[in-house]
Amino acid sequence: SNKGLKDYYQSYFPVGAAVTPRTVEEGPEAELLRKQFNSLTAENVMKPQPIHPTEGTYNWEPADKIVAFAQANGMKMRGHTLCWHNQTPDWFFKDKDGKEVSKEVLLQRLKEHITTVVGRYKGKIYAWDVVNEAVPDAPGNIYRESNWYKIIGEEYIARAFEYAHAADPNALLFYNDYNTESTSKRDRIYTLLKGLLDKGVPVHGVGLQGHWSLTDPTAEALEESITKFASLGLQVHITELDMSVYPKEHARRERRDTDVSTFTPEQEQQQIDQYQRIFGVLRKHKDKITSVTFWNLSDRSSWLDNFPVRGRKDYPLLFDQNYQPKKAYWKVVEF
Ligand code: G3I
Repeated sequence: SNKGLKDYYQSYFPVGAAVTPRTVEEGPEAELLRKQFNSLTAENVMKPQPIHPTEGTYNWEPADKIVAFAQANGMKMRGHTLCWHNQTPDWFFKDKDGKEVSKEVLLQRLKEHITTVVGRYKGKIYAWDVVNEAVPDAPGNIYRESNWYKIIGEEYIARAFEYAHAADPNALLFYNDYNTESTSKRDRIYTLLKGLLDKGVPVHGVGLQGHWSLTDPTAEALEESITKFASLGLQVHITELDMSVYPKEHARRERRDTDVSTFTPEQEQQQIDQYQRIFGVLRKHKDKITSVTFWNLSDRSSWLDNFPVRGRKDYPLLFDQNYQPKKAYWKVVEF
């Protein structure tokens, strides 16, 4: 068939993939991207560490390469991510003597970073994950104890959105997080977003990362998240979709005897069913969902091959290790 995911889903939402600069070099991966997808996200190279490694130094080339590929192929480009507790260099938080900076200095650095990065891609990146994973998993607190929170306080979130909005008033600005189908975290993210919107902070959408498993989330839990966040008037993007074949309770840093290194028929069937269920829900809520992006391209290489266990092969995507559509793919495009 000459059709790709983007064609089957043309009247629903753009379908994207997270890529590295190597993915977009001529070859089978670039070919697969062009056939199947009409949106891209940089897996790493737009994050603070890679793009702004030291104060005053920006490393644009890897990010530019991905943006150029998207533009040359008429694809949408999502930006990921401006403010996070991870992959952010230490220099943001320290002065020259290694002492923790003041709130004012850190806000100034955040502003300079966001203004520069969003400004460079103004008009080329239509949606930004402005703040990533600011809410902790454990029930209780709304705010993760990150350096951002510890030095600035909760205000860093609102400021980040305001700086991004000033740098590109046309860009759609997202809050992005994982485990958004767990009731406690969902409710705390909702409270955070409602508070921002009540204060008039320019937030336009919520990114549900979608690092899912063969059994989680249920269709009901996913629908509950989509409708709850959309009730705030926000767009919903699925930003990092993949489906590990390992149970969540295996999410520990040690290898287990029960971890297999092949894709078993049982896992395959469960994955087919779960992908079918999930895309059924996404289609049903197409009035709320305005983008669906996979985190990586094919089972040849996924971040899950090294997480939570280094070297444990996973099979989370719709294309196999030879870039061929898996059975789950055909269920996702059959409706
Ligand atoms: O940058 C160094 C590079 O200099 C070095 O040569 C290389 C050798 O190991 O390591 C490189 O850093 C790695 C980086 O990926 C780039 O490949 C880091 O060790 C590695 O930890 C990092 O992992 C990324 C992870 O975010 C970091 O938390 C994954 O590729 C990326 O898929 C993952 O993406 C995140 C989203 O941004 C947010 N949501 C969760 C998602 C999955 O964790």
